[in-house]
Amino acid sequence: MAVIPVDVAGRPYEVRIAAGLLARAGEECAPFLRKKRVPVITDANVHNAWGQTVGASLAAAGFEPVWKILPAGEQTKSWEHLAEVTDWLLAEGVERKDAVIALGGGVIGDLTGFAAAILKRGCQFIQLPTTLLSQVDSSVGGKTAINTPAGKNLVGAFHQPALVLADPQALETLPRRELGAGYAEVLKYGLLGDAEFFQWCEANGAALMDGDHAAREHAIARSVEAKARIVEQDEFETTGLRALLNLGHTFGHALEAETGYSARLLHGESVALGMVLAARYSARRGELPAADAERVAAHFRSLGMMSELVELGLNVDGRALVAHMLHDKKMDAGTLPFLLLRGIGGAYLAKDVDLADVAAFLDGQLQGAPA
Ligand SMILES: NC(=O)c1ccc[n+]([C@@H]2O[C@H](COP(=O)([O-])OP(=O)(O)OC[C@H]3O[C@@H](n4cnc5c(N)ncnc54)[C@H](O)[C@@H]3O)[C@@H](O)[C@H]2O)c1
Ligand SMILES: [Zn+2]
Repeated sequence: MAVIPVDVAGRPYEVRIAAGLLARAGEECAPFLRKKRVPVITDANVHNAWGQTVGASLAAAGFEPVWKILPAGEQTKSWEHLAEVTDWLLAEGVERKDAVIALGGGVIGDLTGFAAAILKRGCQFIQLPTTLLSQVDSSVGGKTAINTPAGKNLVGAFHQPALVLADPQALETLPRRELGAGYAEVLKYGLLGDAEFFQWCEANGAALMDGDHAAREHAIARSVEAKARIVEQDEFETTGLRALLNLGHTFGHALEAETGYSARLLHGESVALGMVLAARYSARRGELPAADAERVAAHFRSLGMMSELVELGLNVDGRALVAHMLHDKKMDAGTLPFLLLRGIGGAYLAKDVDLADVAAFLDGQLQGAPA
């Protein structure tokens, strides 16, 4: 088992990574549980696939799981479901020192984490992430949120979990497309700060996608390690360090907005395309060898993932995409910082980017032109 400590000021916790952890959830969580009844929040798909395993494990450890099974999908990160979950936790008599369990992907983790953040001004919560994206990204670091009609993740709180259990076996029931979306966030850690891990991904990404347990465990551990070290130094995203985790997300956000946050483009898929675009735009500025930018695209292509903006078949121009970026909450006093690359493993925040040039670059990409 890999154990990665996350040493946030005053509230250190562990991310434990090992195959079989869901089947051992009861004993792993036991030290954090004070009462026999344990609230577990999940979605219908995850409950189908893993509810029995986790429920039996909690029961074997002497607990009585009580379930809140929500609909699967991004729409569940809503005011309505937040109210439903918090009312339910209050009715269950959950107190500040009690822990509630989030079993699922980023949607369930973000919603449960936010409910835990505001329940009686903050109760404990445990993350059992079941998607690759949630194992390498959303379950670690304490960002919680819901969506509102004004946009995604606009209402939320920083609230760290008490424990995270990432079980690579959970990924066996995950659709391949969701796996690929999570893998984009894995590759992100290599691209932003760890050239050696990027190379490891080039060599092992296919095995990971095809079910290799050791490769999955290694990739999750390496990713969590990278995120933990960043979050420890910049928990509340004030110094700019944590912002590096948004590599690919500014371009990606424009694509998500343009496709209406629909099943046409999953978040991780937008990050994959966004990283290709950030790399090519860095090459256009002369800051990254063009061949390195093409390594990013080639890697996603080799895994059967989208790597070219033209594949999305958008009917817009570059200016319209830039307009979406300007609505991004990462806007800072009217300027739009871009995460660009000075090399593989060398992400940095560029504050001098000319938006008209970005639009011209995107016009080329929308037509499939070489950068
Ligand atoms: N808090 C953060 O720091 C952070 C970081 C990145 C993303 N996010 C958020 O995470 C969310 C996306 O998370 P996600 O990609 O995990 O999506 P998700 O939670 O919607 O899960 C994707 C799909 O897979 C299903 N699923 C989950 N685990 C499964 C399993 N083991 N077997 C079969 N099906 C399974 C779900 O039911 C869902 O249909 C977004 O809302 C995003 O904003 C948050
Ligand atoms: Zn992301």
